[in-house]
Amino acid sequence: MSGLKNWDNKTWVSSANYIKSFTRFILKQNKLNRDSKILDIGCGRGKIIANISTKIRLKNKPIGIDLENNSNIDKRIIFKKINALYFLKYNKKNFDLILIKQTIHLLKIKEILKLLNLCKKSLTPNGKIFILSLDSYKNELPVFTEMKKKLIISLNRNKKIIDLILKANPKTILKKYVFKTKIYKKKYINMIRKKYISILLNLNSKQIEKGVNEINFNYKKVIKFNDKLVCLIIKK
Ligand SMILES: C[S@@+](CC[C@H](N)C(=O)[O-])C[C@H]1O[C@@H](n2cnc3c(N)ncnc32)[C@H](O)[C@@H]1O
Repeated sequence: MSGLKNWDNKTWVSSANYIKSFTRFILKQNKLNRDSKILDIGCGRGKIIANISTKIRLKNKPIGIDLENNSNIDKRIIFKKINALYFLKYNKKNFDLILIKQTIHLLKIKEILKLLNLCKKSLTPNGKIFILSLDSYKNELPVFTEMKKKLIISLNRNKKIIDLILKANPKTILKKYVFKTKIYKKKYINMIRKKYISILLNLNSKQIEKGVNEINFNYKKVIKFNDKLVCLIIKK
């Protein structure tokens, strides 16, 4: 179990604006049509691929896989509770888009290379893999001291992962995705208490409450920041 149940549970990444904006970003980079086949690895509740599916009127429901069987998974997707590596090993379908959004960092380095090789084998001739992860440079995520320490470690690891992917796939195209986020401090504190992001998973309740006090003190009633992602686009 990954333990990440609250990532897209009433957060800005589950907001209609975010999903609309992210869908626009994906469709701008990628020529998809009604016949396209889509796979989302680490799909959470599947709202993003479900929205893409509605927008381009997909004939076949997109497939979303995740280790967590969350409540409220979107009915417009085919959901499978399965480890991505296991799914791809036995998969016989080919996809035009394989989306891996804010998930790759949860795998071990060896697993990442294995996953990418399996993904490439599961692409149609013009298919693409989209890997998105937190932008390690000038990251603006609102943090408290202990969370910042974990974030720095995670962002450094992210850099290594990206370098590794670029080395293994020199033709990778690099893009950035930025979402102007505006969130009530109260709501953000609730997200922290629910450990919405992986860097919070190992903090104990005392550390979380100390962090909540810091956020309360350091931020205004409405928190504004840019949620920045890097996007790696890999072809077959
Ligand atoms: C941070 S969430 C991102 C959810 C979604 N992609 C989004 O951006 O809104 C990462 C998700 O990846 C899932 N996950 C982690 N390792 C996985 C694996 N090996 N196979 C499938 N899903 C995995 C977690 O359970 C979690 O739901």
